[in-house]
Amino acid sequence: WRVSLVDTYGRVATDLRVSLTDRCNLRCSYCMPPEGLPWLPSERLLTDDEVVRLVGIAVRALGVTEVRLTGGEPTLRPGLAALVARLAALRPRPALSLTTNGLSLARLAAPLRAAGLDRVNVSLDTTDPERFARLTHRDRLGDVLAGLRAAAASGLVPVKVNAVLLRDVNDDEAPRLLRWALGEGYELRFIEQMPLDAQHGWQRSSMVSAPEILAALRAEFALRAVPGRGSAPAELFEVDGGPGRVGVIGSVSAPFCAACDRVRLTADGQVRTCLFAREESDLRAALRAGAGDERIAELWRTAMWGKRAGHGIDDPAFRQPRRPMSAIGG
Ligand code: GTP
Ligand code: 5AD
Ligand code: SF4
Repeated sequence: WRVSLVDTYGRVATDLRVSLTDRCNLRCSYCMPPEGLPWLPSERLLTDDEVVRLVGIAVRALGVTEVRLTGGEPTLRPGLAALVARLAALRPRPALSLTTNGLSLARLAAPLRAAGLDRVNVSLDTTDPERFARLTHRDRLGDVLAGLRAAAASGLVPVKVNAVLLRDVNDDEAPRLLRWALGEGYELRFIEQMPLDAQHGWQRSSMVSAPEILAALRAEFALRAVPGRGSAPAELFEVDGGPGRVGVIGSVSAPFCAACDRVRLTADGQVRTCLFAREESDLRAALRAGAGDERIAELWRTAMWGKRAGHGIDDPAFRQPRRPMSAIGG
């Protein structure tokens, strides 16, 4: 009974993004307010057993081959390494990656690697300590830099760094960030800010766009597009003849929705077919009502039929999703 997650446009989801918590220990201004958000109550969170069961169904019955753990901040989940070890023991074994703010990696990189994690993507928008503190409301740049070094030293490679540029905050920093990342051996990707902040403050007119970022980089570096992007969100460029690279994720201005191979599971056990989906399918309720694996797989496949063609940000009737990115999963 192995049938993939196919949507009505013929796209096949093989990349599962699992949010492990909606909490975070930073307060990036483009994500959540300084006071935080009303967090999910613990009884609504999937337990480790439930996460392992659902991911197991996804790899055995639904053709999922890649699993990315996200948040909020996934390293805030107690016992993360033990959970990773259980996911790595699933057969067929999925590729396992983590998207994190890096604060805890100095401590966790080695145990996560030993548990079977393959690689990490670390969010970092500035290498200036004062800007970092202003942007995230926490003075902890040093911890992120130490975390990045620990990730590379532990073999969680390639280490990717995600940077969101904000108008009048760090929009002048693209070349400096790239120079730094090339020196450290990290693959830097610039991300267009999407309308997913809890404060609903996003405005297209103030978004730092992919063409604008590329123009700023081209003033200081020679960039050559790397062909063969496939379903990856980042358009990759070789820098100054290589081997260094930089990526630009133009989610808003150049969406990759037509090639999307993603599906998401929220920390409270809802399938979301897109960051911008308008509805969710409740697998937690089915699990807790005693549904068998085949029934869960069937519900999951059916959920895919609701996946829309694209994010719809350019649609005049566009409304931001009810949940912010921290609760959906990055
Ligand atoms: P790799 O496998 O390393 O390429 O991971 P990734 O780039 O898919 O994952 P990551 O969690 O690092 O996400 C980077 C950025 O891609 C996010 O911050 C989003 O801006 C964007 N992104 C991820 N998933 C989606 C998605 O489903 N839709 C859109 N529009 N953007 C997404
Ligand atoms: N738009 C684009 N990227 C965002 N991230 C968080 N909020 C947004 C947003 N509104 C990024 C984080 C992290 C990744 C998971 O998503 O910086 O790198
Ligand atoms: Fe935390 Fe990520 Fe949101 Fe920053 S973007 S506050 S690191 S969840």
